[in-house]
Amino acid sequence: MIYFPRQIGSHLLLCFVTFNILLAMFNMFTFRVSFQPSQPCSAVYMFPSTPVVTYTTTNFTQYVTSGSSSSFNHSLPLLKNSSTVAKDQLKMEVRGNYVVINNYLSAELSPGVNESVTLTTQATLSFLHHAEPLCKHWDGPISLAVYAPNSDLLIVIDRILQMRQCGHHCVKHNITWHLIYDTRFPPENDLKKIRTKIIDCEAHDKIPSLRTSFRESHSLVYPINIARNVARQNSATYFLMASDIELYPSLNIVSRFLNMIAKMGKDAYNKTVYVLPIFEVSKTVKPPTTKTELLNLINKKKAVFFHKFICDLCQRFPGRDQWLKHVPVNNTLNIFTTTKRQHPLTSWEPIYIGTNREPSYDERLTWEGKQDKMSQMYEMCLLDYDISILDSAFLVHAPGIKTIKNMDQKQRLPHIRKNNAIHKEILKDLKKKYGSNPKC
Ligand SMILES: *[C@@H]1O[C@H](CO)[C@@H](O)[C@H](O)[C@H]1NC(C)=O
Ligand SMILES: *[C@@H]1O[C@H](CO)[C@@H](O)[C@H](O)[C@H]1NC(C)=O
Ligand SMILES: *[C@@H]1O[C@H](CO)[C@@H](O)[C@H](O)[C@H]1NC(C)=O
Ligand SMILES: *[C@@H]1O[C@H](CO)[C@@H](O)[C@H](O)[C@H]1NC(C)=O
Ligand SMILES: *[C@@H]1O[C@H](CO)[C@@H](O)[C@H](O)[C@H]1NC(C)=O
Ligand SMILES: *[C@@H]1O[C@H](CO)[C@@H](O)[C@H](O)[C@H]1NC(C)=O
Ligand SMILES: *[C@@H]1O[C@H](CO)[C@@H](O)[C@H](O)[C@H]1NC(C)=O
Repeated sequence: MIYFPRQIGSHLLLCFVTFNILLAMFNMFTFRVSFQPSQPCSAVYMFPSTPVVTYTTTNFTQYVTSGSSSSFNHSLPLLKNSSTVAKDQLKMEVRGNYVVINNYLSAELSPGVNESVTLTTQATLSFLHHAEPLCKHWDGPISLAVYAPNSDLLIVIDRILQMRQCGHHCVKHNITWHLIYDTRFPPENDLKKIRTKIIDCEAHDKIPSLRTSFRESHSLVYPINIARNVARQNSATYFLMASDIELYPSLNIVSRFLNMIAKMGKDAYNKTVYVLPIFEVSKTVKPPTTKTELLNLINKKKAVFFHKFICDLCQRFPGRDQWLKHVPVNNTLNIFTTTKRQHPLTSWEPIYIGTNREPSYDERLTWEGKQDKMSQMYEMCLLDYDISILDSAFLVHAPGIKTIKNMDQKQRLPHIRKNNAIHKEILKDLKKKYGSNPKC
């Protein structure tokens, strides 16, 4: 029994206990430990083409058939030898309830395995327009997986062909495209035939804009981690950066990164990933491309750390304020600091340059359910990875500073619950596999 000398003490105790019970309930509900209770740490992207998205009854059991959690295989499938598949054949693969077409349209340039760094990323129809600006920011190949069920696929392919034939030459030179659709909702067209279609670049509005996509009208979830893994496994370079399509990199990262690695020698190949800090800028400014430009915008309060107003902790890294003061000489790229992804950085969802040796993303987690990258970072923590932060390479979210949208949160709630349940399973399995580490 605990005795408090004064009445006020027991009131305080009562408040404290009540607060903790509420907090615990909240944590059970959101499966997130004690950070900013009203602000879950995940991106809230609205789909521009659909102001009202309704997620109705989704039967989740169908999305977990890709393997029971205990037998889940975290290693990536080996790269297929592309020269053994005839040029006009589609390289199809079934993953759980989805069909993947690897390398549906390939980049014309293909640098050697140690000559570049591949940016691997993913999209749905409503994010495709980021492909071209992204390409212009990245001085190397891009491996891009697009999820598009049924009739959406035809529209996606049309837009890709249009970008390749009528857009900036970068798209044709550097982007390799992979397609993903539900086994239940295959396309109705001959994908081999439309691959070679010629687009009339002079004709405007050839591709009608969609009111509602097939995906939206059927309330299909976005299997984002399948897309992430597919883009990654198709990287033809040793180093790769698994990123999001609306994060525009600063300029000349690949060449500067390879210089840095060359100077580091063998140590660069230890269990290390190289993190790029992420920023967002206000709608009215162009994404900065150098650190000097970035710092100017920050001084003018036109740029902030990513998710500053949604989940500041998700992007907080050690020495963040010093990072903002440091500009390297001669525009070289260096390691700013090296850390571990351990407490208090357990909400950190960094984007980094790594390889295909890092754990893959769990394919049962959906984009709608959030926290889709968190278990991958947790696994890296158990594997005791070093996390090095680069001093002058960074990413900028496509303009517009993000705030939480209540409506969107509500619609995603059922999916968040599902992801949380799976997340719990994954953590349990990972602890079994590697032994638990309280610091993770
Ligand atoms: C959900 O899907 C699974 C597998 O497709 C099926 O066995 C089950 O009956 C479905 N449940 C509901 C409630 O529709
Ligand atoms: C995991 O998958 C890889 C690639 O598909 C395969 O080579 C490996 O044997 C699998 N491991 C287990 C334990 O199933
Ligand atoms: C890929 O296949 C071709 C033709 O069969 C063969 O010559 C080449 O050595 C293979 N490459 C690898 C990496 O297996
Ligand atoms: C790429 O670099 C690694 C590490 O330095 C080396 O082991 C490998 O042989 C290189 N591969 C090629 C094709 O140059
Ligand atoms: C495309 O890739 C090449 C070679 O990998 C690279 O030199 C170039 O900077 C990339 N980007 C553009 C816009 O061409
Ligand atoms: C990095 O690699 C070197 C040589 O391969 C090794 O001596 C060193 O212990 C490694 N460092 C870490 C942190 O694993
Ligand atoms: C920067 O570049 C100049 C000219 O190439 C060189 O003299 C100087 O040593 C470089 N400084 C550093 C710190 O590398």
